Amino acid sequence: MTDFDLVVYGATGFTGRLVAEYLAGLDDPYRIALAGRSQWKLESVRDDLGVDWPVIVADAADPKALTKLAKSTTAVVTTVGPYWKYGLPLVEACAKAGTHYADLAGEVLFMRESIERYDAVAKKSGARIVHASGFDSIPSDLGVYLLHEAAEGPLGETVMAVRWASGGFSGGTIASGIGQMEAAKADPALRRVMEDPYALTPGESGPDEGDQLWVHYEPVLDSWTGPFVMAGINTRVVRRSNMLLGYEYGRDFAYKEVVATGPGLGGRARATALATASTGGMAALSVGPIRRVASRFLPEPGEGPGQESREKGGFRIEFRSTLPDGRVYGAEVIGKGDPGYAATSRMLSEAGLCLATTEGPGGVLTPASAMGDALVDRLRAAGMTLRAWQVR
Ligand SMILES: NC(=O)c1ccc[n+]([C@@H]2O[C@H](COP(=O)([O-])OP(=O)(O)OC[C@H]3O[C@@H](n4cnc5c(N)ncnc54)[C@H](OP(=O)(O)O)[C@@H]3O)[C@@H](O)[C@H]2O)c1
Repeated sequence: MTDFDLVVYGATGFTGRLVAEYLAGLDDPYRIALAGRSQWKLESVRDDLGVDWPVIVADAADPKALTKLAKSTTAVVTTVGPYWKYGLPLVEACAKAGTHYADLAGEVLFMRESIERYDAVAKKSGARIVHASGFDSIPSDLGVYLLHEAAEGPLGETVMAVRWASGGFSGGTIASGIGQMEAAKADPALRRVMEDPYALTPGESGPDEGDQLWVHYEPVLDSWTGPFVMAGINTRVVRRSNMLLGYEYGRDFAYKEVVATGPGLGGRARATALATASTGGMAALSVGPIRRVASRFLPEPGEGPGQESREKGGFRIEFRSTLPDGRVYGAEVIGKGDPGYAATSRMLSEAGLCLATTEGPGGVLTPASAMGDALVDRLRAAGMTLRAWQVR
């Protein structure tokens, strides 16, 4: 028997504090501990929350302390990022100890490294290691999972469209994005991994060739669409789920993610503006001096959107899949609160509790393949809408 059900690692950071706050607001008597690198900061978070949870001090560069942490608990959720910089030692400690793990990594290179190094270790120990357990990529992953359940068989061409999303960015997220960009710039082999639609299913392939970068009219949505900034992460996670679920979505499953901007000339103009801004923004950020100047005006690590913007934010994403026999299925996922922070901290907390209270085979998994219906149920109970239906 472990000392804790769940340890929150990184509880002193912007998102980690929100996770701890969410858990402190639950009625259920889970055994929780707060962990991080600074005892006084952890005690101050604990005092602010008015809880009596133990604190655990462990630096991300101290494998001994991380092993002790992993052995003390059934599951860990971690917000210590950038994960590419700090994350692998905790994955290793959990994979070896058989401790379940969930994080907010939106970093393809980190996830790929974790798969290559620790999938076999986690399979052996029974640890379920689940990356991308926030806005990227739980809504995408569970939306497609529900589509497949509703269709009761393989899916065909599938599109996820962001209909509405309102929120901000934290310093930690910006640092993580910039870190991936710099790693890819410095090493062409890493750039190829980031550009590979099947980066998280090494050795596998399928019909997808890349993410949508420009404007496209999507008849199944009756809408013009532009590129979605998180597509490069979410689509890889969803394709890994398909593989881990034994290709239940089909070997021909094709998947993309876009932002829907509506029909007509107005929709087309909005999609063009979005595509121009994201292409221009990425091109500018790929230039070192521009990136350094821009980061001076962006939030620092530990900073992020204020309470009002976290509460007012939200998202609604929609899915359509056209099956080989012509039937069309739809799904939607709706969350209240800033997607990256209020909604994300809720999703990560529920994923951590789900891992702590359910069973399943180990490995480096995805939200849908590790938790499936159990996580859908928990998120619905936590106020999110997740549903799928036959359109025609
Ligand atoms: N996928 C999503 O939807 C999503 C949404 C939100 C955030 N994120 C990701 O979550 C991560 C955290 O973001 P954030 O804005 O919360 O970042 P943050 O405020 O900078 O927090 C980082 C945390 O890591 C801790 N830390 C840093 N170095 C450490 C070390 N050597 N050992 C142990 N702990 C260390 C910090 O501790 P101190 O307080 O002691 O400095 C802090 O608790 C980022 O990677 C971000 O991209 C993802």
